[in-house]
Amino acid sequence: MNILIIGGAGYIGAHTAREFLDAGHKVTVYDNLSSGFEQNIFDDEDFVEGDVMDFIGLIDLMRRGFDAVVYMAAFKSAGESMLRPEKYAVNNIGGAIHVLNAAAESGIKYFIFSSSAAVYGDPQYLPVDEAHPLNPANFYGFTKLEMERIMGWYDKLKGLRYAALRYFNAAGYDLNLRVTGLERNPANLLPIIMETACGMRKEMEVFGEDYDTKDGTCIRDYVHVTDLARGHCAALETLVKTGTSFAVNLGGGSGISVLEMINAAKRITGKDIPYRVVERRPGDPAVLTASCEKASALLGWSTLYSDVETLISSSWKMYSKFQK
Ligand code: UFG
Repeated sequence: MNILIIGGAGYIGAHTAREFLDAGHKVTVYDNLSSGFEQNIFDDEDFVEGDVMDFIGLIDLMRRGFDAVVYMAAFKSAGESMLRPEKYAVNNIGGAIHVLNAAAESGIKYFIFSSSAAVYGDPQYLPVDEAHPLNPANFYGFTKLEMERIMGWYDKLKGLRYAALRYFNAAGYDLNLRVTGLERNPANLLPIIMETACGMRKEMEVFGEDYDTKDGTCIRDYVHVTDLARGHCAALETLVKTGTSFAVNLGGGSGISVLEMINAAKRITGKDIPYRVVERRPGDPAVLTASCEKASALLGWSTLYSDVETLISSSWKMYSKFQK
């Protein structure tokens, strides 16, 4: 199929592009390179530099004819979204609507949307399945939920079929090191652990050790970025086969605490990872884990690389090149 990936030069975008290319699809990436990297553009794909706010540019591009659009050009820092909601409103909702409108106007049938576990808010039960109430605890999650609802209307009114993929905690790197852009100023746990292990930072912070968990630190469900990428391929196949829109969780299927992750990283990298325990970070639930039964039943998807060893060793292969 002919696939357009909006935001395909970013961390998850590039891994997803690689997976679609490897599966034999034709891929075009549209990216403004604000957080994506030129080095994440592969020789076997087309690249168009552009912004999601450029509706005319999007229409021009989409009229070339694509079977599916994958939208992954959103800002993703939950903390920042609470301080700068206008930035997230304009890009994550305004920009996404431009992309959706351009797709609908160009007759594109299938839309794959990067959603998030953040649509659920504080978990009322665990693991969280797709029937869990939708009550985002931050503005970032709200932008994702708004887009899911808008896509629901476009499905009814415009016949656009969508897959909303609710990512849990994306981590790791391509096992063959084909995606080489290192995230700038990361805010997520594993890249921060890696930066500490390779000496890019002297120490890291652990946000709270007084949670009601086995070691007092928060538990999350980490999913390898290549498993996420495989989820996009499976989602597109399912959309084409069933012609029915859906929302589905993509998680790793087990919970890992912050301290467990740091200790595993020490063992696997052989490096010291100094940390300091600080105050809790506002808005962090103690535990967030996914039920992936729907992904298994509907998409035939299960993880291959989301064990702690592979998450950390694939990241370390990348970061160890930058050791100080
Ligand atoms: N953490 C630290 N120190 C750090 C960074 C993180 O202790 O320097 C802790 C956090 O407090 C949290 C855990 O590590 O307990 C994971 O934090 P991340 O920031 O890596 O990830 P989040 O769970 O906060 O959020 C991520 C994405 C969101 C997405 C969510 C879905 O960043 O966009 O997963 O589960 F919505």
